[in-house]
Amino acid sequence: MIISNVNKERLWQSHVELAKIGATPGGGVGRIALTDLDRDGRNLFISWCEEAGLAVRVDKMGNIFARREGSDPKRAPVMTGSHLDTQPLGGWFDGAYGVLAGLEVIRTLNDTSCSTLAPIDIVVWTDEEGVRFAGGCMGVGVFAGELGLEEALACRDKNGLSIKDELKKIGFDGEEPCGGYPVAAYFEAHIEQGPILEKKDTVIGVVKGAQGQRCFKVTVSGEEGHAGTLPMDQRKDAFQAAARMSVAIDEAVKEFSPKSVVTVGAFDVSPNSRNTIPGQVIFSIDSRSPDDETLSKIKTAMLNLCQDIADKRDVMLVFEEVSYSAPVLFNSNCISAIRTAAQDLNLSNLEIFSGAGHDACHVSRVAPTGMIFVPCERGISHNEKESASPEHLAQGCEVLLSVIKKFAC
Ligand code: HGY
Ligand code: MN
Ligand code: MN
Repeated sequence: MIISNVNKERLWQSHVELAKIGATPGGGVGRIALTDLDRDGRNLFISWCEEAGLAVRVDKMGNIFARREGSDPKRAPVMTGSHLDTQPLGGWFDGAYGVLAGLEVIRTLNDTSCSTLAPIDIVVWTDEEGVRFAGGCMGVGVFAGELGLEEALACRDKNGLSIKDELKKIGFDGEEPCGGYPVAAYFEAHIEQGPILEKKDTVIGVVKGAQGQRCFKVTVSGEEGHAGTLPMDQRKDAFQAAARMSVAIDEAVKEFSPKSVVTVGAFDVSPNSRNTIPGQVIFSIDSRSPDDETLSKIKTAMLNLCQDIADKRDVMLVFEEVSYSAPVLFNSNCISAIRTAAQDLNLSNLEIFSGAGHDACHVSRVAPTGMIFVPCERGISHNEKESASPEHLAQGCEVLLSVIKKFAC
């Protein structure tokens, strides 16, 4: 299949340039939300948008909207985009591909002097990954009306720094209201972050929807003590209790596998000293399932087993849900437009359900939404080794161009 419109080399080169910001020793990127590196990635993207003649706006949650005007100002915008924040040891493509594919669509429309009736916005959503603040998708969550603006701005990281202050510090405390206006359609291009497309030697994933997730912050409080003097049977060791909770969770989830998954990803021990009995442990739980009821059952099972262990180990437990996102099905018109575009372009395609969460899952609450997946090598993501081919990136972008033209013209 010869890519007839988008510029494959230019799209690839944009990834190469962006990946220099926050480059990590293992060949990945680390641009955690609202840090100076996130700021630098945002500013590079904005400079490219200005070169492409786009008008850039920033809303009160720091979401960036780069607009290409249409000929009919009464039309609601067609949007595309994703996120530029990454995991601490993330890859080049998670999030960045959706933003840069949107930019390549605009660049191609400019190259071909193609005008549209509706305006087109490329969007960069604030803090999709949730590495620093609560459960992630903070910018899009406010835009979709799932989260109050003040509640989100007041959210603090583990050093007590708020989203409000951090947005101001990086210069992205925008003026524009966050959301509350019609959006004609939203399309997000993303790497699959799983092995299915590659295994089936298929280029385009026509995404049906995404599984739900519930994330928790678990605080286990015992009592600091001297590692040398306190007898074992008198200890209130927060680490020993939390470790047992984590193992018990891993065991309990087997009943809900393989469709449901649970991850204990962050584990902070305090005071984290060799010869002090840990007084407090804070750990994260990320639970996912395509079925909402199962998500609730997993929550109840985990809470009960953690409380049991806390009682037995004579420590205090606080089990706090920090985010919830219901399973979502995308808009059938958007799905069929993506499938038709892939077929017209002679690109192999299959329907797929997303295991990962995305900004699109939240936009779908307020606008007709679809997602386009392309393969990534061995399905690896949230890993410095994340990799995708220039061909696949360009082919996914070709489909994106086609559906945006369909909805904007
Ligand atoms: O966690 C997720 O599913 C997304 O990659 N942030
Ligand atoms: Mn992502
Ligand atoms: Mn991610």
